Amino acid sequence: MIAEGTSRASAIAHPNIALAKYWGKRDGEGNVPAVPSLSVTLQGLATRTTVSFESNLVRDELCLDGVPASTARITGLLDRVRTAAGITTFARVRSLNDFPTASGLASSASGFAALAVAATTAAGLTWRPTRISNLARRASASAARSIFGGFVHLDATADGARPIAGPEHLDLAVLVCVTTESKKSVSSTLGMLETQRRSPYYAAWREDATKTCAAIEHALVDRDFDALGELSEHSALSMHACAMAAGIVYLNGASLALLGAVRELRKNGLGVYATMDAGPHVKVLVRTRDAGVATKALAPLARRIIEATPGEGARALEEVSP
Ligand code: DP6
Repeated sequence: MIAEGTSRASAIAHPNIALAKYWGKRDGEGNVPAVPSLSVTLQGLATRTTVSFESNLVRDELCLDGVPASTARITGLLDRVRTAAGITTFARVRSLNDFPTASGLASSASGFAALAVAATTAAGLTWRPTRISNLARRASASAARSIFGGFVHLDATADGARPIAGPEHLDLAVLVCVTTESKKSVSSTLGMLETQRRSPYYAAWREDATKTCAAIEHALVDRDFDALGELSEHSALSMHACAMAAGIVYLNGASLALLGAVRELRKNGLGVYATMDAGPHVKVLVRTRDAGVATKALAPLARRIIEATPGEGARALEEVSP
């Protein structure tokens, strides 16, 4: 039980890219996804977060990438940690992304995963990763997957995420083709609610997404790169088609140009596949040996390209930043 003084911890987490997308929520509490999903946690991009519970604070405070920000989305997670640990003090939270925030680069996944690890560590809770993953899921479902490294499955139940293969399981590079540095206009939370409400294709998406996720898991277990790539591109296009039919458009002209270029490269025999989340960036899945050729071909169409590979899950950092 922490009542007085300061208790502080830092954590690092990496974004994850869903190969099989989650889009839509179950009815009721708990932020439970309507479909299962499968992701790869990436190294090459990171969120570092420090949480300190301080007795002199009169409210929770958040500083995101150096700028004071609303605590609306983090207070629920902090409250759950406080209740479990018997803490009565507010928290100062500092979080830094080394990639664009809130633009469809999964900053909420790494952000809430880092927050969940830092907050539980600062509070002295020694929870198993599955429990921390469930804590993160309630804040943002994709964050549940970033608690684990490598390839991770998130069920459409309140059970949460489980790792299915380590980072070394598949030879994979993800080329994150950044198309803009600006923030997205519709959050994924709102975008998926609108899709559920308005898309005529939502029921079909739900059915297909469940099958696609199972097929992607098989392809992954078999290390069948091309099947995995094809199915991942299918998952992304189906999700966007379903959302677009509800008026939710995340892709921009550069996204479509990149998508076309990926298909052209594929026609020429290169094993490259595209996936896009709730934003305009295109993430290209490629074998590591082909990453250089693909980067060279796609560079003129992107503002910049970040190369990432499968990486580790979220973890507490020894060093607490000042
Ligand atoms: C397109 O996890 O950001 O990236 O749970 O409402 O915070 P909330 O949504 P979020 O949605 C992620 C959507 C996606 C696909 C995915 O990561 O599975």
